[in-house]
Amino acid sequence: MAVEPGGMAIEPGGMAAGGPEAVTAGRTDPRAAGETVLHGGNTSVVVRVGDTVCRTPGPWNPAVHALLAHLARVGFHGAPEVRGFDERGREVLAYVPGEVGVLGPGQPLPQWFRTDDACMAVGDWLRRFHEAQRGFAPDPALPWRMQAGRELLAGEVVVHHDVAPYNTIRGPGGALTVIDWDFCRPGDPLEDLAFSAWQWAPLWADERARREDHAAAPELADVARRLCVLAQGYRATPAQRGGLLDAAIAQMLQHADDVEGLAEADLAFRRLVEAGVARNARLDARWVERHRARLQAALDDPSPH
Ligand SMILES: Nc1ncnc2c1ncn2[C@@H]1O[C@H](COP(=O)(O)OP(=O)(O)OP(=O)(O)O)[C@@H](O)[C@H]1O
Ligand SMILES: [Mg+2]
Repeated sequence: MAVEPGGMAIEPGGMAAGGPEAVTAGRTDPRAAGETVLHGGNTSVVVRVGDTVCRTPGPWNPAVHALLAHLARVGFHGAPEVRGFDERGREVLAYVPGEVGVLGPGQPLPQWFRTDDACMAVGDWLRRFHEAQRGFAPDPALPWRMQAGRELLAGEVVVHHDVAPYNTIRGPGGALTVIDWDFCRPGDPLEDLAFSAWQWAPLWADERARREDHAAAPELADVARRLCVLAQGYRATPAQRGGLLDAAIAQMLQHADDVEGLAEADLAFRRLVEAGVARNARLDARWVERHRARLQAALDDPSPH
């Protein structure tokens, strides 16, 4: 989730949520000596302390930290290093320098995040993330945020479920680090590719694309090409290419339901629902249905884009 120019809360489904105060509404004041509030998210309080960040904790942290520790152990560097918890109980992670794919106050989305190059790099990041999980078995006793802990079924991985520009940091040398692991849980690897297709192509309804980081909705041909490049970066199989659009629609509808479900108990998510996040996700799903033939034709074309 991102912050639109002017500092208003905005998210994948994005619409203004009512002013700067909405960004932190309902959260405790994080400011303490030596802490800098990091903007760009909507649902956690994130502060920088030296070379670390401290985030709002949750019961899902142990499951997530076990995954992140495994990734570090096998030499996958596309995720932040876990540093444990601080004296206030907050989750502590390494601070990752670089550019984040969010709209800043008065600033457009950094240009790179809408390029073919970005889609190729993210597809590759997803492939390496999934492959790095070989040998990782989540502890079924540890809960995820959105579901109880359980063993992985055949073919499953831990899916990040939120690999979008607003959760991606591009380092000075171009390496990508994905942050915000709160939504990860076991699932089909295609779910990650589908969520990223939604956010990176992006598969957005025209009126929403216009409202967010584009003066005009992007050309369908450009969206179709970026979608294809993402699948290429992931080395998607023909079966994955065949199922990608249905999986993207499923991610959109699931995301809408998840945000609405979380809104029942969490003010930050209620603000997102009020801002139209769930409604926009469902509009995006309809947009994919409307353009399915053109998008699928691009995915089925084996020539490099
Ligand atoms: N490890 C990190 N290194 C550097 N910056 C970070 C790190 N983690 C978070 N940030 C910064 O803090 C911002 C918010 O982080 P994060 O995405 O974790 O918050 P969130 O509120 O959970 O997000 P969302 O609204 O997507 O749920 C990011 O946009 C980024 O600028
Ligand atoms: Mg985030």
